[in-house]
Amino acid sequence: MISTRKISALAISALLVLGLAGAAAQEAFTPPSTPEEAVRMRVATMRENGALLRTAGMLTGAEAVAAARTILDNYAELPDLFPEGSTAGSDALPTIWQDWASFAAIIEAGRSAAEAALAAAEAGDIAGYNSELGTVMRTCGQCHQQFRS
Ligand code: HEC
Repeated sequence: MISTRKISALAISALLVLGLAGAAAQEAFTPPSTPEEAVRMRVATMRENGALLRTAGMLTGAEAVAAARTILDNYAELPDLFPEGSTAGSDALPTIWQDWASFAAIIEAGRSAAEAALAAAEAGDIAGYNSELGTVMRTCGQCHQQFRS
């Protein structure tokens, strides 16, 4: 017979495995291999961010943590979703690659605000979380104005 203690040890190791799988899934980002794939991936990422940010300000607790983490992951991936010259079938302007430093700086401003939003959400500081999300949202318009046709 399996003892209760053994069962809970099994449950804990199952949880650990799930936790590791979750962490691995988050890290398993494969950069696009063609310009077409890059356009598809960034459009999907942009839409996901847009959908998340429409409701993120109403979230608290674990839901706020999850939203901030997804936005952070998405911003961290953005530089890889804009390989040089990937403008076919896209609203991305060629100025992105002529002024990559400015483009990358806007992404970094959003990424670091998302990181701060995540830390605030984890600390239960919802006011801080919302204020950082506001900073993330300002980067959307800032970049679109400059780098999207
Ligand atoms: C660093 C620049 C940059 C940032 C930051 C940025 N975007 Fe974008 N976004 C773009 C570019 C460039 C395109 C055009 C992509 C394409 O067509 O290849 C785009 C396209 C979009 C689209 C249109 C997707 C479609 O259906 O074609 C949406 C929606 C969008 N962005 C939402 C957002 C939101 C919401 C944020 C902020 C959370 C954001 N973006 C932040 C550069 C940016």
